[in-house]
Amino acid sequence: MSGTEPEREPQPARLEADRLASPARRLVARRVVTFDLVGSTNDEAFGELMRGGDDASGTALFAEAQTAGRGRRGRTWVSRPGLGVLVSIALRVEPPPPPAALVAAAAVAVREAILEEARVDPRIKWPNDLLVAGRKVCGILVEARGSGPRADVALGIGVNCNGDPDQDLEPGHRGAATSLAAAAGRPIDRARFARALLDRLDERLASTLRGDVREIEAEFLDGLGLAGRRVRLGLPDGEVTGVLRRFDVARGVDLETPEERRWIAAETIAHALPA
Ligand code: BTN
Repeated sequence: MSGTEPEREPQPARLEADRLASPARRLVARRVVTFDLVGSTNDEAFGELMRGGDDASGTALFAEAQTAGRGRRGRTWVSRPGLGVLVSIALRVEPPPPPAALVAAAAVAVREAILEEARVDPRIKWPNDLLVAGRKVCGILVEARGSGPRADVALGIGVNCNGDPDQDLEPGHRGAATSLAAAAGRPIDRARFARALLDRLDERLASTLRGDVREIEAEFLDGLGLAGRRVRLGLPDGEVTGVLRRFDVARGVDLETPEERRWIAAETIAHALPA
């Protein structure tokens, strides 16, 4: 390079569809689509199902960047190009499993992939974040459309893989979020991480759709780190405190208070925190 040319930062390698797809998988990411820039990969997943029908179910759609990445509760998801893994799995499900089953399966799969590839053990933060040392590294957004016996689902996952959390994250997220690279102390190979994630999602989603959820429930509870502990659950009419006894994708959380023991539906719980 001559002295007059501006120095360019090395660009992260793009994720390539043919290096991520595998016919050996049962359901997820036998087919993979990658984009440089989209609005939201969840919208791409719904579009894929509209166009491709049942044959599109299981397709994984990755983007290097999104202009309208969505989070839960109307929040946005912002990630600098090439630093994260932003993926949505398109699923046509009949009958649809309980929403908590898909969220739990995805959270367990992400936790496994992070353990495998970054060698750090994240906590699951109810209902669908993963934290390392108390800072968010992943958010999951499961959206469903359709009613009756069949639903189209976009299961979106955003993971902060590389980057310096103090420079590459949005100012509002600094301190609350981190990257796997910062937690692991070394850069993360995004393609390797993405393949591990797709393998784990394939396993966990295939068993969820078979109705085989006992192991996922146990591992989700383990990931929360709250079993047998006093917790505060955020409910529509305020917080309730008690000991968290069990988690079940159909019934939710089994909470023991001094007065009673009751199941609280997962969809009604906004947060579950140590009391
Ligand atoms: C959250 O933290 O509230 C959930 C964030 C989910 C972000 C991912 S990135 C890929 C997919 N596409 C989206 O628009 N959102 C999800």
